[in-house]
Amino acid sequence: MSRAAPKSAPPATFVIFGGTGDLTRRLLMPALANLCGDGLIGDALDIVGIGSREGSDEDLRKTLDEFAPDGACWPSLRSRVTYLQGDFTGPDLFEALKTRLADAGNVAFYLATPAQFFGPIVERLADAGLMTERDGAFRRVAIEKPFGHDLASARALNAQILAKVDEHQVYRIDHFLGKETVQNILVARFANPWMEAVWNNRYIDHVQITAAEAIDIGTRGAFYDATGALRDMVPNHLFQLLAMVCMEPPIDLSADAVRTEKAKVLEAIRALTPAEAKTDAVRGQYAGYRKSADVASDSRIETYAALRLHVDTWRWSGVPFYLRTGKALKARDTEIVVTFKPVPITLFRDTAMADLPPSQLILQLQPDEGIAMRFMVKQPGPKVKAVPIDLDFHYADHFRIGGRTGYETLLYDLLTGDQTLFQRADQIEAGWAAVQPVLDAWSKGKGKPEPYKRGSSGPDGADELIARDGRAWNAIGV
Ligand code: BG6
Repeated sequence: MSRAAPKSAPPATFVIFGGTGDLTRRLLMPALANLCGDGLIGDALDIVGIGSREGSDEDLRKTLDEFAPDGACWPSLRSRVTYLQGDFTGPDLFEALKTRLADAGNVAFYLATPAQFFGPIVERLADAGLMTERDGAFRRVAIEKPFGHDLASARALNAQILAKVDEHQVYRIDHFLGKETVQNILVARFANPWMEAVWNNRYIDHVQITAAEAIDIGTRGAFYDATGALRDMVPNHLFQLLAMVCMEPPIDLSADAVRTEKAKVLEAIRALTPAEAKTDAVRGQYAGYRKSADVASDSRIETYAALRLHVDTWRWSGVPFYLRTGKALKARDTEIVVTFKPVPITLFRDTAMADLPPSQLILQLQPDEGIAMRFMVKQPGPKVKAVPIDLDFHYADHFRIGGRTGYETLLYDLLTGDQTLFQRADQIEAGWAAVQPVLDAWSKGKGKPEPYKRGSSGPDGADELIARDGRAWNAIGV
């Protein structure tokens, strides 16, 4: 994201493990086609899709047609897609890949596979010599989430991978970082002096980060029932948002400067004690979840999680952060709500001011992307009466948005070698470390998730969590 005027990515071979999968069809290939349409990848990108089924190049191409965007680029990109069949866990595939890539220079491998294959694939690629960078050519590997299942497994996976390849070759995906509205948090914060001036514990009362989804788990029962809302969304997506909100200004926009500041935030999340892991974390399960396909009939997996956290830095000391995420809620709504403290003296004592809502800044990440500021103004008239109004910015009013998969920037950055929007090993581990006390409490205890109705705002316990501090959640979907 540091580039000034984007240039076309260099020639490369893009190898997708999981080439016949959903992610490839719906997101990766359309994103490559969009980049091609933008002139950001040229004719010199070859694509190899790897899958376990028998099939031909044309079979793979046909499955990709369905989601390909309209435009001149797809036919030429399509003709450069080839298929390689093989077993991710066996040596034959890597021998075949070696032959296929014998003349290749730059290669980006993309692991769109179930998580248990990440470590073994990187090991086999490295053992086959396919990750060795020579003659100025790059060898990179992009790894989807989930990266680990808890702190110990994330550490083990990092160790397994970094024993074979260097950190500069590893691109750990968090697709939230591909969202324009998420990248904009840094610009909004650091390009507007008035914003940075109030961005601290002197002026901010608390921050809420919400990723609410209206959809339920659909056909993902097997994955979800082994994962749950906390693992699925919090140490990765929600913590990336938290890091963007809380980080100090980096010394420049280089990948490591930005990632170092973000890692510091994650490391500063105060570890919950075992007692706090019970009181400051709430889990819920929507009605009917246990009847979903591939879900245990007595499942204690949460489909909703809410947390109260503190970031122990000079800037944020004393400011609570409330995070929540869940499925089957009343609306899709991903937002960051920053609530400011009241003004120090109520000059407007004799007016209707005392009952007014506080000033708030709402970063609406999706849908209806934008930024709103709840602002007090005088209602025209002979008496002083302050009323809140919203200064409302909608992306769609100013920019052409839409028609993008959200992977365009991430793939372009992978091909051009910009790691800013990818998770570094230390960030991943700090994220897991911060949720580990909650994972421990929920796995050990006899407790179970609190039920909530589909289409609601989540379990009552989440409302109680924030009400204890005399606060309330911003309404979902409003
Ligand atoms: C994924 C989770 O990482 O993010 C899903 O595994 C979730 O469960 C998705 O639905 C949400 O992403 P987005 O971009 O739709 O907000």
